[in-house]
Amino acid sequence: MTLNPKLSKLLNEQINNELSSSYIYLAMAAWFEQTPYSGFAQWMFTQSREENMHALKFYQYVVDRDAKVELQPVAKPKASFKSPLDVFEHSLRQEQEVTRQINVLFEVAEQVKDHAAKNLLLWFLNEQMEEEKTVREMLERLKLAGNDPASLLVLDREAGSRKGSGGSTTGGAGA
Ligand code: FEO
Repeated sequence: MTLNPKLSKLLNEQINNELSSSYIYLAMAAWFEQTPYSGFAQWMFTQSREENMHALKFYQYVVDRDAKVELQPVAKPKASFKSPLDVFEHSLRQEQEVTRQINVLFEVAEQVKDHAAKNLLLWFLNEQMEEEKTVREMLERLKLAGNDPASLLVLDREAGSRKGSGGSTTGGAGA
């Protein structure tokens, strides 16, 4: 089944959105590297890699559907933040925006009756739900920790022990 042109355009845009997301998280990791919070830096670095894998998954999908990949420039990410809480608030907004984008893609796939694309996008919708949940949980705990250095360092250590979700590599498409 040939990929619908509108869906193809949106999937190409999503390659860029995911790469932008990867770059945003890398900037967050770099910001944390300038602070004592090496665990949060590691968390953000891991997230950046996951977003990169998401981009590659969309890339491979467009290739596999025999459509044309058209890459666009990746925007410069925000580089300075006020606090760990501020970073995670940005992260949550970032994930909510990606969830909105994937929902739009899913709706278009539904309109053009592309069930194979819907299958891919369902995987991403589940992934987004997980990512939003993880960030929300960290945000809640950061709010509880407030400005208490000891509590913040406990959270930082925990963040540093984060493993990749693995989910990003299991959905096929070579990503
Ligand atoms: Fe791939 Fe978290 O957006």
